Amino acid sequence: MAIRLGDTAPDFTANTTDGEISFHSWKEGEWVILFSHPKDFTPVCTTELGYTAKLKDEFAARNAKAIAVSVDSVEDHNAWVGDIEETQGTAVNFPIIDDSTRTVADLYDMIHPNADNTLTVRSVFIIDPNNKVRLTLTYPASTGRNFDEILRVLDSLQLTDGYKVATPVNWTQGDDVIVSPALSDDEATELFSAGFTTVKPYLRTTPQPNK
Ligand code: BEZ
Repeated sequence: MAIRLGDTAPDFTANTTDGEISFHSWKEGEWVILFSHPKDFTPVCTTELGYTAKLKDEFAARNAKAIAVSVDSVEDHNAWVGDIEETQGTAVNFPIIDDSTRTVADLYDMIHPNADNTLTVRSVFIIDPNNKVRLTLTYPASTGRNFDEILRVLDSLQLTDGYKVATPVNWTQGDDVIVSPALSDDEATELFSAGFTTVKPYLRTTPQPNK
């Protein structure tokens, strides 16, 4: 069954390029970006894994880390990472799961048979420290993902977990945010010392509260 927002991310044990992991223990206390790619030794995937490796410090600054998965073996992953380092200029610094048994692909519904019967699509799951799924994305094999967008969503989730706000279209760190429609004007006045602007009664903006 498809995984939906708010679901508990399924736990699993898997062999990876960093050895065997038990997923929930491995991620304990952290945010995780679990993402599938269709196949090792393919061009788009090579660029995606290289770019994700470059974001390690950005993820760490958000108490987050990445883990990749495909239905290839750990031997294939280990052979491929050399190509990623050579062509993308970064060593892969996160584990890649050997899912030749399709355990993870099945648990997370990463194989979409009407797209491809055997290969995982480009899925992304952002999973929070309480193991709740907070974002799902599915991209086709022919389209490389925008991992800066994953960072942006992490920023939004972490901000909106801490404050009664939502983030508007194309929001990035430092932009104004939206006052939660659940708050009355009196409550918003109390919560947001910088005040707020009423564009419409249901659309009120305020400076990002933690900046
Ligand atoms: C790629 O990563 O380039 C790719 C993988 C599977 C199908 C199509 C493209």
